[in-house]
Amino acid sequence: MVNLKEQVGLKAAEFVTDGMIVGLGTGSTAYYFVQELGRRVQEEGLSILGVTTSNATSEHAASLGIPLKSIDEVPYVDITVDGADEVDAAFNGIKGGGAALLMEKIVAVNSKECIWIVDESKVVDTLGAFKLPVEVVQYGAENLFKSFEEKGYRPSFRMKDGVKLVTDMKNYIIDLDLREIPDAVALSNELDHTVGVVEHGLFIQLVSKVIVGYPDGPRFLEKR
Ligand code: 5RP
Repeated sequence: MVNLKEQVGLKAAEFVTDGMIVGLGTGSTAYYFVQELGRRVQEEGLSILGVTTSNATSEHAASLGIPLKSIDEVPYVDITVDGADEVDAAFNGIKGGGAALLMEKIVAVNSKECIWIVDESKVVDTLGAFKLPVEVVQYGAENLFKSFEEKGYRPSFRMKDGVKLVTDMKNYIIDLDLREIPDAVALSNELDHTVGVVEHGLFIQLVSKVIVGYPDGPRFLEKR
């Protein structure tokens, strides 16, 4: 059986050339992109600098011998390749299933180009079936949770080993079970202006290419 995640990871790696500063995404799809870059570094002498979007990706990339810098040590990122949890035809999407949305968005907005790699199951007509991750500071998180409940957003704290998950940036994640997000831009603006919210998983117009894995080969999603 074709591994759709590997297929799109390899396709995206074709956009990386010598000398680039490369944003390295997080998750089981971005894994294959990082793996391929590691192979090229080792076998072909590819010379790149990686900027990672999570501690997990830092460990993975370092284990492959990819030289790394933090986002504050580079002037910009040439290209970032990352996965996504949902993407629509306007190239808006939901990210944060792996709890790395804050670092992912910071690296994305500092990138000249962003590419998402997804399998066909991630392409949707309307965002929202995937619970929207919202990263919140720990102080006041319970009150924020209540206000999301009052708005009918069906919040739940992301848990790990029976306690609230703490992100790489030391915050909590509240997942909103919205089912459908009719106006992603309006909700993004609302969350941007909610005190205590550090960042949210709505990525609005941040990518220029979406590579989708299908059993018969990868295709670029057409923007509408
Ligand atoms: C992590 C992310 C991931 O990119 C997203 O969850 C997709 O992951 P996967 O490729 O494992 O399905 O946003 O915060």
